[in-house]
Amino acid sequence: MKHFVSMKHLSAAELLQLVQLAADIQAQGVSAYRQQLFAANLFFEPSTRTKMSFTVAERKLGLEVLDFAAEASSVTKGETVYDTAKTLQSIGASVLVIRHPEEGTAGMLAEKLDIPVINAGDGKGEHPTQCLLDLMTIYQEYGRFNGLKVVIAGDIRHSRVARSNALALQQLGAQVFAAGKPEWMDASMDLPVLSMDEAAAQCDVMMLLRIQFERHDKKEAAAGYLEEYGLTKAREKRMQPHSIIMHPAPVNRGIEIDDSLVEAPRSRIFRQMENGVAARMAVILTLLEGRGMQRGYNFDKRE
Ligand code: CP
Repeated sequence: MKHFVSMKHLSAAELLQLVQLAADIQAQGVSAYRQQLFAANLFFEPSTRTKMSFTVAERKLGLEVLDFAAEASSVTKGETVYDTAKTLQSIGASVLVIRHPEEGTAGMLAEKLDIPVINAGDGKGEHPTQCLLDLMTIYQEYGRFNGLKVVIAGDIRHSRVARSNALALQQLGAQVFAAGKPEWMDASMDLPVLSMDEAAAQCDVMMLLRIQFERHDKKEAAAGYLEEYGLTKAREKRMQPHSIIMHPAPVNRGIEIDDSLVEAPRSRIFRQMENGVAARMAVILTLLEGRGMQRGYNFDKRE
């Protein structure tokens, strides 16, 4: 694995290896790199969870973080994203994390740069590290993926999280369904569609999505959305006792999900965020190890 740009390039074995490495890191910790290494975090779109958890992951690994604010950079003078990224590589970054509104940006940089590129979200494309932390959360719950019924519910058409998760979960043998407003389904993902009532009753995992208002061509009102397509208290009561609620966040409380369910006993939303640090450490370690940068960690299978 040279870059981490899309879930479509990963086999089931590689996905499971990353989930296991993240779990090992979370349980046992990991020693930091001894040599001086720099991580460049290029966020061209707002972020709280992804950016902050990459920063924590990088610091835990002993990397120095080159923080980047597009609005205070030479991007404002017209510098391209490629020239910006190439500049950070030239200055000495060992790994580059990028979030960009344009689909395909991380993939384009991966083809052109010598250092590992990690996709932290490319428009409506993919969000593979979010997917990895979601996989980790599901595996913690069930210890398997095969045969699980996972419903991805909500604004699927505009969601990079939906795309990465559908790819990876199907690769791992889960049954993936879609639910939500018909206009927001995405035929290219070819997922069987359930009503929200059917989804609530049948799923092992209810994976809700944020309505991506910022990616909609026309402003749509959220009034009535919760009752028609969201997870209401009544629907939550129809869920099986073991079923869990997930959401990548940020959450539109009271729109995709009833406010009171965000921290309900079956909600794993804040667990997902917690898992984001170990998941991102696992990705960075795997990529740097692939470039011959070793450090003193001692999980059985590795050293
Ligand atoms: N889930 C997620 O990507 O959140 P942020 O936009 O806050 O990074």
